[in-house]
Amino acid sequence: MSLPSSTSHAPLIDRFGRVHDNLRISVTDRCNIRCFYCMPEEGVQFMNRAEILTFEEIERFVRAAVPLGITKLRLTGGEPLLRRDLPWLIERLAAIPGIRDMALTTNAVLLEKHAADLYRAGLRRLNIHLDTLDRARFEKITRRDDLPKVLAGIDAAVAAGFRHTKLNIVAVKGLVEPDIVPLARYCRERGFEPRYIEFMPLDAQSLWDRRSVLTADEMIDTLGREVGPLRAVPDADPRAPATEYEYEDGGGRVGFIASVSKPFCLNCNRIRLTSDGKLRYCLFAIDETDVRDLLRSQASDDEIAAVIRANIAEKWLGHEINSAKFVAPPRPMYSIGG
Ligand code: 5AD
Ligand code: SF4
Repeated sequence: MSLPSSTSHAPLIDRFGRVHDNLRISVTDRCNIRCFYCMPEEGVQFMNRAEILTFEEIERFVRAAVPLGITKLRLTGGEPLLRRDLPWLIERLAAIPGIRDMALTTNAVLLEKHAADLYRAGLRRLNIHLDTLDRARFEKITRRDDLPKVLAGIDAAVAAGFRHTKLNIVAVKGLVEPDIVPLARYCRERGFEPRYIEFMPLDAQSLWDRRSVLTADEMIDTLGREVGPLRAVPDADPRAPATEYEYEDGGGRVGFIASVSKPFCLNCNRIRLTSDGKLRYCLFAIDETDVRDLLRSQASDDEIAAVIRANIAEKWLGHEINSAKFVAPPRPMYSIGG
């Protein structure tokens, strides 16, 4: 099958008029820690090496997706730094004409060793996953005693030249309340932006329950009272998932991903590629489209593009977390990539 190039270069617009320019690529489902809201403690079944896309296959996919208007990439996992030679992939992706922005989400356990190489490869934006500055609580959440490594990794990133780093904090009620304020202060001191992410029903053990979500409004209230008065950022990008606030005294920004209390699906501009080569139009999608077979055959870019289009044509309006219709996706977070 080959499509005329006039149709293959039109933007990726779905039935609801949403334009997709943002591709999230999970490079591995493996992780070196075991955050309870994502992974079970024991017995995780990881994919085989042969199932995982090679870097060449990922690059090939991105080259086919760029003519459809993909300009922004995010590399995720599992933990992406577990993939050997990740800087090589970053260099290749950064060199693709049309890619304007690339970011990496990492838990920073291995960042001390890799920060300088990542920067040298052309990466400029990091989201670091960190829920607490308290060593005992870190161990309780992640089932690993790795907080010192994470903090050393963050320092190494700063020393390597990374700026405007964001911290991803998963807001679980009854657990992270004592961490909200210390993390905000830690970020303020360093010029980082904390992003408080409402706990979503994506954990491997179905622990999620509506009452375990610490909502953005509750956190805005706490931070405004205890760290400094906050106001909504007036010119924030309406398509960004985070609701952005800033300290009135100029002390920086704070973001909230209110996926549960204020779903932002109407503005969604993302598609996702899993590490085993499945295309997902939504974090919560039930159906997914295989592209690995295409990438491993002699398929043309136009054929790959047609499959991407067909997947987006199926995209639903949004998740139904707040309705009785909600069905948790068959994959947990670590194998989707967040
Ligand atoms: N709910 C909300 N956020 C989650 N993350 C992982 N699991 C969950 C969950 N159940 C976040 C982590 C990670 C990002 C990709 O997704 O902060 O950094
Ligand atoms: Fe987009 Fe799906 Fe996330 Fe909604 S839930 S914002 S549709 S990816």
